[in-house]
Amino acid sequence: MQHFISVDQLSEIDIFNLIKKAESYRKHEYQINQQLFAANLFFEPSTRTKTSFIVAERKLGLEVLDFHPEASSVQKGESLYDTVKTFEAIGANMLVIRHEDDHWYEEVEGLSIPVINAGAGKVEHPSQCLLDLLTIYQEFGGFEGIHIVIAGDIKHSRVARSNAKALDRLGAKVYLTAANGYQDETLQFPYISMDEAVKICDVMMLLRVQHERHTEHHQMINYLTTYGLTKEREQKMKEKAIIMHPAPVNRGVEIDADLIESKRSRIFKQMNNGVFIRMAMISHLLQKWGMDHEHHIEKREIFTGIQ
Ligand code: CP
Repeated sequence: MQHFISVDQLSEIDIFNLIKKAESYRKHEYQINQQLFAANLFFEPSTRTKTSFIVAERKLGLEVLDFHPEASSVQKGESLYDTVKTFEAIGANMLVIRHEDDHWYEEVEGLSIPVINAGAGKVEHPSQCLLDLLTIYQEFGGFEGIHIVIAGDIKHSRVARSNAKALDRLGAKVYLTAANGYQDETLQFPYISMDEAVKICDVMMLLRVQHERHTEHHQMINYLTTYGLTKEREQKMKEKAIIMHPAPVNRGVEIDADLIESKRSRIFKQMNNGVFIRMAMISHLLQKWGMDHEHHIEKREIFTGIQ
């Protein structure tokens, strides 16, 4: 693997190994034993992804280079390509990039340092997908036959796309629920109503209405009661079913605010998992590039097959 752009690049065994690696990093500290610089180039706003990449990099012993597009030469018209070439020339050993362009990663293919996709437009969000897979794995011990409903603004969501494809490949049963205007027919999974969804799901994966990506205005009156997870609907979920959301959350829009920290919610667990799965992604990629020769994780900790 040259760059970490999509979960599609990973085999099922790779995915399970990353999950196991993330869990081993939670239990055992691990530091890369050489000076390496990581730069997080976020051209779109982020709280969780950027902060958890910074924490993951520091836990691995990387030196983190600062970058804020609003205070950089981006303001003088410097392109994404020239920005990444600049970081490469100055000595960054790894880049983490988020950009609004659906296909920005095509511009960095020839780079001599590894790149991790931290969000590409409406198309891919692989680190979110992997932390979601880790969260589901912790809960159910696997994916085969688990009923996952992805609910909300599917059309504008990179999380929906990455997760639906990966979960389907891992044997989960994926369903979608969305208001008219938020559906995306390019995703070949059945659409059901929210009232059906709450009854069948093991995982209710809610999505934020992404107003910033909308090119047309959809008048959504009573969104919560018509399409969202209300307290009344939550009562109809299976006993062991969980609620997930990549966040940020529109409280009282896609979910009743009282459910965000409820017993079923794994929303803050997902954020915590994000640190460890990003550590696993970084060290996996650096090992592929010969920059990290992991030594301390005992062989028995590394997963060797699908359970
Ligand atoms: N879930 C997620 O990507 O959050 P941020 O936009 O805050 O990084």
